[in-house]
Amino acid sequence: MTINGLIHQFVVDPERVLLDILREDLGLTSAKQGCDRKGQCGACTVIVNDKAVLSCLTRAAALDGARVITVEGLGTPENPHLIQHAFVLAGAIQCGYCTPGMIMATKALLDANPEPGTEEIKKALQRNLCRCTGYKTIIEAVKLSGRFIRGEITPDEVRPKKTGSVLGVSHPRPSAMPKACGSAQFTADIRLQGALELAVLRSGVPHARIVSIDASEAEKMPGVAGVMKASDIKGTNLLKIDAAEILCKDKVHCVGDPITIVAAETLAQAEAALSAIKVDLEMLPVLDNPTAALANDAVRIHADLPNVCYEQPVIKGNAEEALRNSAAVVEARFNTQINHAAPLEQEATVVYWEDEGEEGDAKLVVVGRSINIHAHLGMLQEAVGWENMSYIEAYSGGQFGIKAHIASEGIAAAAAVHFKRPIRYIPSLAESMLMTTKCMAFQMDVKLGADAEGNLTAYCNDILADKGPYYFDAGIVRALMTLSGSYHIPNINARGRMVCTNNPFAGAVRGNGQPQVGFALECAIDMLADKLGIDPFEFRFQNSLRPGQGTAIGWIAKEWPFPEVMRALRPHYERAVQEAKLHQSDRVKRGVGLGAGAHGVGKTGEGATAAVELDADGGITVYAAAADPGEGNDSMLSQLTAEYMNIPLEKVRLRTRDTGDTAASGPAAGSRITYMIGGALINALEQLKAAMWKVGAKTSEKLIAAGKPSRYVGRKKNEDGEPMDPQTGQGPGFVSEIHGVQLVELEVDTASGEVTILKITTAVDSGTVIHPQNLTGQLEGGMDMGVGYALREMYVAGKTRDWVTFKFPRIQQSFEMETILVQTPRAKGPFGATGVGEMCMVPTAPAVTNAIRNAVGVWICDLPATPDKIRAALAARKK
Ligand code: FES
Ligand code: FES
Repeated sequence: MTINGLIHQFVVDPERVLLDILREDLGLTSAKQGCDRKGQCGACTVIVNDKAVLSCLTRAAALDGARVITVEGLGTPENPHLIQHAFVLAGAIQCGYCTPGMIMATKALLDANPEPGTEEIKKALQRNLCRCTGYKTIIEAVKLSGRFIRGEITPDEVRPKKTGSVLGVSHPRPSAMPKACGSAQFTADIRLQGALELAVLRSGVPHARIVSIDASEAEKMPGVAGVMKASDIKGTNLLKIDAAEILCKDKVHCVGDPITIVAAETLAQAEAALSAIKVDLEMLPVLDNPTAALANDAVRIHADLPNVCYEQPVIKGNAEEALRNSAAVVEARFNTQINHAAPLEQEATVVYWEDEGEEGDAKLVVVGRSINIHAHLGMLQEAVGWENMSYIEAYSGGQFGIKAHIASEGIAAAAAVHFKRPIRYIPSLAESMLMTTKCMAFQMDVKLGADAEGNLTAYCNDILADKGPYYFDAGIVRALMTLSGSYHIPNINARGRMVCTNNPFAGAVRGNGQPQVGFALECAIDMLADKLGIDPFEFRFQNSLRPGQGTAIGWIAKEWPFPEVMRALRPHYERAVQEAKLHQSDRVKRGVGLGAGAHGVGKTGEGATAAVELDADGGITVYAAAADPGEGNDSMLSQLTAEYMNIPLEKVRLRTRDTGDTAASGPAAGSRITYMIGGALINALEQLKAAMWKVGAKTSEKLIAAGKPSRYVGRKKNEDGEPMDPQTGQGPGFVSEIHGVQLVELEVDTASGEVTILKITTAVDSGTVIHPQNLTGQLEGGMDMGVGYALREMYVAGKTRDWVTFKFPRIQQSFEMETILVQTPRAKGPFGATGVGEMCMVPTAPAVTNAIRNAVGVWICDLPATPDKIRAALAARKK
């Protein structure tokens, strides 16, 4: 074969595929494995004899004499190909895991068709999945590639100018070009000399006692270094954030719970040995829904914890009386589903030993995808019983909340301590789905009332949340804190109960409780507007919270720019309503729907830290534990620093991935990184700038010579607040709120129940915009994810095993998107900035179901709104 212009000879096993040759034999890791080699993800796409092929399905033995090109063969960060330039400049790269495959599919397309239209692009990229971008910018990047290649425009003409303020300008992300050229290393790209590979035996049943584990046969099999059980773990065996065991000791609590680890010289040997392990399980009663878990005689999931593991009322005013006196009341039950966050990169951890010295003092280095490296390092140290450890965040192929919990890290670190060897643990997609936290399912019984003038009077919501077996309350707390959404509702009576079951264990997924309660409230708002005969847009506008009024938990808003955001959307809404009237047929009905939401950023009392150091050339090195699984935190830190210090972007250096370089700053979650770590960064820069100014120094040498340190630590600390009152739920809100409203235009095929999304328009009060592409990229990715949540996606343990059964959104389902940014600087944000990544998930699902109702007259109150539910609702209406 000729690979990237070089001739290679291989003697190959007939079973080996091109992906193995590239990654394992040649170390060309740009081609990724994003599915279980089922041809479902396209991340492994390369070009063979001028055609885009899936290298995971292409047998190497069939490639005698073939010409193969990978992304490494197109260009390098120093000398990129025009397509690589285009993907970077278009802002089409977020986590970058899909990027090499996308670029190779684009190259094959443009070689054959230099000027493709949108539909041709969608067809050519139909096998390539992306979870981050919503596909819109990828299509734009392909078009820009074509313009570059046809010579209509050059990258220099598109690249932002380096003069003037860097804020509000989409300078290429520091990480974008390495991702486009395949040189960014993701965890599974890291190969370790002498590493053992792991296979993990996981429970196939949801609830059972472990009677015995017989690994005697497995231990004798070729290549096997050993089999580990919970009793072999020296530490607490507990990953605290979800109170989940690394390996189950006495019981399994849900499908996928880990029981034993096999370590072997190769993955094939480890997997072969796994099937020789005999586990005797005694089945226990299964609690497969929260209502069953509430019964008095229900089995306890954990002997020392009641099944209702969290309960909190929210009481304001007298909701029952207010409802009795209301002119109109609606009442409904809403359900949201258990869902997978679906980052394209699967779980992966590699672990190695450093500074080998006397027995017991070697350093264990864990490389993985954590978004909270310091907190997770502390958990790992205790859980595996090894103190001298560090954590490094590799490039990460998305996470969307699930890496608030760590799973593969515990197993890999425990195995490294037990076997005293480096470890690679790269689970399959099916196993990754089993081990990661899921979006929590909510059942919500809702009543909402208004007076005759259309003013909201009272809201009741009784929430029963399915936690699965492990305990972590953040999702339900956030749901309760944001219960009243964008509105002023004077009387509230709500209760949040989180219940342990044997379903998949829930954790933080984009929005973390807010999409669930937002779905109930925003649908109820439309139902009530309908009952009162008021336009749903006007009803929302009229009932907006105003500064000086309190949210459900009694937090008094100082600023609340929701009406401005609504005003910005109004002309789009009026246009969409008119167009929908003109596009109706007997079978296909067009509908328009709205959803709103206020997402909280930054909790009271929390803090963040960042350090800056003046370099010898007058540049600045930033040290901050700001994980970046795709949002663009590298841009944020670079641009804030360059702007504040008035230095070129190239002179900002980032050290953000290693616990050894940084201090604990909380998770990259809840859209908090820009606000919190950006704030800490500005504080550090203020100190540095003051010192430089005082002695007139512009380099570290001069600053130190003048007796000043060259490094400064900055902090951001939110004001302390009382905890939620246990009786009433009244307490402090978030320190910053993002307000958004979405307009969905869709069509419903009344015969099939199929829904086609035509366009979503999102208006958001974005704060000061640091990087427009990154901002709109978050909103667009969120719209796409929100539509998946609304219409298709659902996780069923044991059945959802890959991207087809998950119903991953594809480029052919992509739709028109528009974003409207209402810039309202935050008083305490860095340069007035804040984060928007999660807000965009909150309004989408209700906007979709409200549009379905607008199109065909039926309410779908259970997510996802699948065609069969729509057909059933239409049929029921006819009866
Ligand atoms: S790894 Fe080849 S298509 Fe997914
Ligand atoms: S950028 Fe496409 S999967 Fe993340």
